[in-house]
Amino acid sequence: MASDPIAVVTGGSSGIGRALALELLRRGYRVAVVSRDPGRRKKIERELHDFAARLGQSAPPSCLALRADVRNYRELRSAAAEVEEKLGAVSLVVHAAGAARPGYADQLPIRTYREQMELNFLGTVHAVRAFGAAMLDRGQGSLVTFSSVAAFLPVFGFSAYAPAKAAVIAYAETIRQEYRHRGVRVHVVCPPDTQTPGLSRENEHKPYETMELSRGAGLLEPEEVARQVLRGVRRGRFLIVPGTPSKLLFSLSRHLPGLTRLLLDREIRKIRKGDPGKATQP
Ligand SMILES: NC(=O)c1ccc[n+]([C@@H]2O[C@H](COP(=O)([O-])OP(=O)(O)OC[C@H]3O[C@@H](n4cnc5c(N)ncnc54)[C@H](OP(=O)(O)O)[C@@H]3O)[C@@H](O)[C@H]2O)c1
Repeated sequence: MASDPIAVVTGGSSGIGRALALELLRRGYRVAVVSRDPGRRKKIERELHDFAARLGQSAPPSCLALRADVRNYRELRSAAAEVEEKLGAVSLVVHAAGAARPGYADQLPIRTYREQMELNFLGTVHAVRAFGAAMLDRGQGSLVTFSSVAAFLPVFGFSAYAPAKAAVIAYAETIRQEYRHRGVRVHVVCPPDTQTPGLSRENEHKPYETMELSRGAGLLEPEEVARQVLRGVRRGRFLIVPGTPSKLLFSLSRHLPGLTRLLLDREIRKIRKGDPGKATQP
């Protein structure tokens, strides 16, 4: 047990992060999850302990649920110190904490742009710095950051979220080069729409056009995303795009950006024509 690998999952109390925490436990990792809400944290802690017990991994402690806000670098550093002290040397960090706030670009408050950057981009920098420092010292480990399909295919309604997630890809690209020769691998995940509590909250704010655009794009389960993420990490992939439709969209937007814009514009025109009363933007 003492030599089991140790993983940290930020945002591990819900959605994709929760699925990853459970899957990692199943694969023999000891897991620490980091999040804010005490109720959700207690629930995932119980769930992880019960799951670990069923797997026959009750002692020494195989899981831990800690409180930290990823927007606060100091809190993440304390969490990192606590994980190393209570579980041991971390070899895998999955930074899944994040959220999307969609809306019409001319109606979203300016502060939403700042908040999206703070949570999704700076949160990533904080997690990488807080948990990655010990990995760089040891010359070993993997850092998994979370972006989104919206980063390479920024669609209607995501003017605050898409730039923040695009910044995550650019950041991951640079640290991949800087950390590689120091023994630390960097990955970036771009999930498509995935059935999570986060997506349900996001849907409450989506403009009608965004809702309709995503209707045809399909929906993944968090457990499927978790499996694809871990497969990508095992295979040493930098960019992990779960699901075949998202991989095709990635290729289309990269190789045929003009055609991608044309198709998007045509789709939006069709949606607005189909039910003009539902679009709340003129
Ligand atoms: N679901 C999708 O369709 C989708 C698509 C593309 C990309 N993504 C990305 O995938 C990641 C996971 O999304 P999800 O849908 O699984 O989200 P989710 O169900 O809302 O879960 C988000 C997790 O992050 C934690 N969190 C949120 N803000 C935090 C903060 N400031 N500090 C610490 N923890 C925080 C939440 O716990 P607390 O609120 O208790 O802190 C929760 O554990 C996100 O980065 C998201 O942007 C999701």
